[in-house]
Amino acid sequence: MCGIIGYIGPKSVVPILVEGLKRLEYRGYDSAGVAVVDENQINIRRVHGKIAALEKSLEESPLDGIYGVGHTRWATHGRPCEENAHPHQDCTGSVVVVHNGIIENYLALKKKLKKEGHTFRTETDTEIIAHLVEKYFKGSLEEAVQRAVQDLDGAYAVAVISSKDPEKIVAAKVGPPIVVGLGKKEFFISSDINPLLSYTQKVVFLEDGEMAVIEPTGANFFDFKGKVLEKKVHHLSWSRLMAEKSGFKHFMLKEIFEQPQVVRDTLKGRVFLDSGKICLDEIGVSPELFKKTERVVIIACGTSYHAGLVGKYLIEAMAQIPVDIEFASEYRYRDFILDKKALVIVISQSGETADSLAALRIIKEMKPLTLSICNAVNSSIARETDGVLYTHAGPEIGVAATKTYSAQIVALALLAMHLAQIKGRIDEKASLALIEELGRIPHKMEKILNQAKSIEDLASKFVSFSHFLYLGRGVSFPVALEGALKLKEISYIHAEAYPGGEMKHGPIALIEENMPTMAIVPRDRVYAKMLSNISEIKARIGYILAVASEDDKEIEERVDKVIPVPSTEPLFTPFLTTLPLQLFAYYIGAMRGADVDQPRNLAKSVTVE
Ligand code: G6P
Repeated sequence: MCGIIGYIGPKSVVPILVEGLKRLEYRGYDSAGVAVVDENQINIRRVHGKIAALEKSLEESPLDGIYGVGHTRWATHGRPCEENAHPHQDCTGSVVVVHNGIIENYLALKKKLKKEGHTFRTETDTEIIAHLVEKYFKGSLEEAVQRAVQDLDGAYAVAVISSKDPEKIVAAKVGPPIVVGLGKKEFFISSDINPLLSYTQKVVFLEDGEMAVIEPTGANFFDFKGKVLEKKVHHLSWSRLMAEKSGFKHFMLKEIFEQPQVVRDTLKGRVFLDSGKICLDEIGVSPELFKKTERVVIIACGTSYHAGLVGKYLIEAMAQIPVDIEFASEYRYRDFILDKKALVIVISQSGETADSLAALRIIKEMKPLTLSICNAVNSSIARETDGVLYTHAGPEIGVAATKTYSAQIVALALLAMHLAQIKGRIDEKASLALIEELGRIPHKMEKILNQAKSIEDLASKFVSFSHFLYLGRGVSFPVALEGALKLKEISYIHAEAYPGGEMKHGPIALIEENMPTMAIVPRDRVYAKMLSNISEIKARIGYILAVASEDDKEIEERVDKVIPVPSTEPLFTPFLTTLPLQLFAYYIGAMRGADVDQPRNLAKSVTVE
């Protein structure tokens, strides 16, 4: 979704804004722009399309300035085009605004402002903010912004500059994230920490209803009534290098290959091989509270939802607690029933997904215990849950989630065992065996990654197909869903996933030679059932690829091609079976010439509904 960057300091502003926008690119966007202030003159450059086009335009006709703001736009109100690209201005051209979010009452405000004589140039909701600041400006930009936000309904992260109150950038937040970077005599506003990593590890996260004013001399924080706030300064542990491609062709490929390390990092310090114990004290929720849990509800979107579905199988099998898994966007509008004995787990890589955050806020009114599994430290969802279990995946830049999914299922496996131990539903011997196997997962992942070339060769045979079916049963069903999602996202090939047993209730009608099937068939309790489903497809001349255990000779007779993965504890097979599906989707997408890291229409962090 939209990305905001702002800089004030001694360095040349345009390169910093452009570099910052590049680091926000992964969020998804369709146009980009910058506004810089030079001798009280605001200069704006906007383009429809990629940041490369913005760079080219700036090369051909450079802009200069001493501070400024930049923006990547993911269209919500108004077509993606140059006129609707941010920054937007007021009537006089002295106020400039960049915005992430949606102003829900913008039509009513626009009507009113038009009546008052304001002239609008764009179809966006954002432009009204510039006119409101113009209307309320009496000499102080922060006071005008404070007054303007009182009129707004909806979600917004904004950064505003005015040539009439120069050398300051004012940011305000209700909904989408804003982080303020504190450098040495230089200060930043950003939608996330990635653009800041090259300059500073010291950041302040704004909460809803808060504002920041950055000037060459420092950063100050206020609430919307102007009260000064003392904000906590966070020290980031991520480095700039973690957000580089490091020789890989795409971030997605790099992130797929990082998974063994991500699993190690997410396990680190949390498992004890001598006692078989799991230590999750860091969550900040006492074992007594966990003990009361009689039901678990998992809320998530996208790939995080698929990880949550794996979590359902893990928690039910290990801790024997019933688990419901829900799409956040559906749950928030349902008449759901929750009591205080429920544990609600919100899974979100970014910790900012609008639907997940909104669902959490509604759920909290019923006062269950809430826990989040997040990758972005101190994100909104992490802050607003009773406890947080962080995944240690580092920054994920590829829009299609890969390594954060693996980290999420590690976290869920740990949580399932933690609950099982607290409830006394697993003995020491079984715990130890599971922990030892978790420790072996990274090495087994490496064995799969070593076969990347053969998966690439296999992928090359399917580049021109238009449809794919993914099948799995039990804990492999979410893997099928995730495999199909990756193929859709990256290669734009239509792919559907079904539980194997559901085939005969409809999807089997689709089977013919141009509809290949990817079957996920590890040796587990539904293995024989999957073989029957595979036979049903074969009988209808369908081509079948199977992700199966490397020691499984029987499957070779039944399918056209096997992608072998090492054997593991059946519940842990998603750690291994997902990897070849990620690689398969990646190679097909790359061979089709798709923009693998930034697939069309998708955003990394969906901060609007
Ligand atoms: C977007 C991303 C997906 C992600 C989903 C949920 O759709 O493109 O990759 O799985 O949001 O994001 P979250 O940050 O909540 O895990």
